[in-house]
Amino acid sequence: MKTSLQGRVAIVTGGTGGIGMAICRQLADSGARVATNYRSEEKLKKAQEAGKGYAFYFFKADVTDFDSCKQFVEAVEKDVGPVDILVNCAGITRDTTLRKMTREQWDSVLTTNLDSVFNMSRHVVQGMTDRGFGRIINISSVNGQKGQLGQTNYSAAKAGMHGFTMALAQEVARKGVTVNTVSPGYIATDMVMAVPEDIRKQIIAQIPVGRLGRPEEIACVVDFLCAPEAAFITGADISANGGQHMM
Ligand code: CAA
Repeated sequence: MKTSLQGRVAIVTGGTGGIGMAICRQLADSGARVATNYRSEEKLKKAQEAGKGYAFYFFKADVTDFDSCKQFVEAVEKDVGPVDILVNCAGITRDTTLRKMTREQWDSVLTTNLDSVFNMSRHVVQGMTDRGFGRIINISSVNGQKGQLGQTNYSAAKAGMHGFTMALAQEVARKGVTVNTVSPGYIATDMVMAVPEDIRKQIIAQIPVGRLGRPEEIACVVDFLCAPEAAFITGADISANGGQHMM
C-alpha cells in the first residue's frame, strides 16, 4: 500500500526500536520527511544502520523529560519544518509480578510509555490545530487491552495511552487533527525476543495466525491513519495482533 505523505513532516519517537524504525521507513517511503530521537550513541549507530538509504533526521532527546521534548520539537520545526504527524512509539518493558516490582520498575515504564505521550503531544498540538491538519498516533499494545501477567506497569501505561487518545481526539476533532491508538500484538522485535523462549512459545501458540507479527505490519496501519483519506477515523484503537485478542 502506498499513501501520499508528500510534503509532510513526521516525528516518530522510539525510532531506534524495531517497530519505530519500520514506521520511520514506511512514512518516508510515502514521502514524509521523518525525524526521530535516540538516547545513546550506541542506539543511534544501530538505527543509522537499520535506516541505511533513508535521510532520517536524528535528534538526541529523552521522552521522559518534558523540557527535552520541547527542545526536540523546536529543533525539528527549525531544521525540518512544522510537525504534521506525531507517532508516539517509544516504550520499554520491565516485566515482573507486582509482588516483586520495585518503584523504579513502575516509574520507568510509566514515564517512558505514558508520560512521554503527554510530553511530546503537548508541544505539537497547538501548531497542528492552528494549521488545520495533524495526525497523532499512539502505539499501545494488546497487553494494554487485555492485561498480561508480569506487566502491571506496562499494561497500565498502555491502557492509559488509549484514554489519552480518546480525550485528546475530542478536543481537536474540529480542527483537522485526528488522534488514534494502534495496538500491536506480539511482534518479532528485540523486546519480544527478550521474553524467555518457553513463555514466548506458549504465547505464540495462543495467536490464531500462528506466528509473531512483523514490524512492517504495524507500520502500514500507521501509514494508513496518516493519510488525508483517514480523516474520519479518530479516537479509535486499531488492533493488529494476529487474532490473539478480539474486541
Ligand atoms: N497463570 C497464572 N499464574 C501463572 C501463570 C499463568 N499463566 N504463569 C505463571 N504463573 C504464576 C507462577 O506459577 C508463579 O506463581 P507461584 O510463585 O505461586 O508459583 C507466578 O505466576 C510467577 O512468579 P515468578 O516469581 O516466576 O514471576 P516473575 O516475577 O519472575 O515474573 C515473568 C515472571 C517475567 C513475568 C515471566 O512470566 C514473563 O516473562 N512473562 C511474559 C510477560 C510478557 O508477555 N511480556 C511481554 C513482553 S513484550 C511486550 O510487552 C510487547 C507487547 O506489547 C506485546
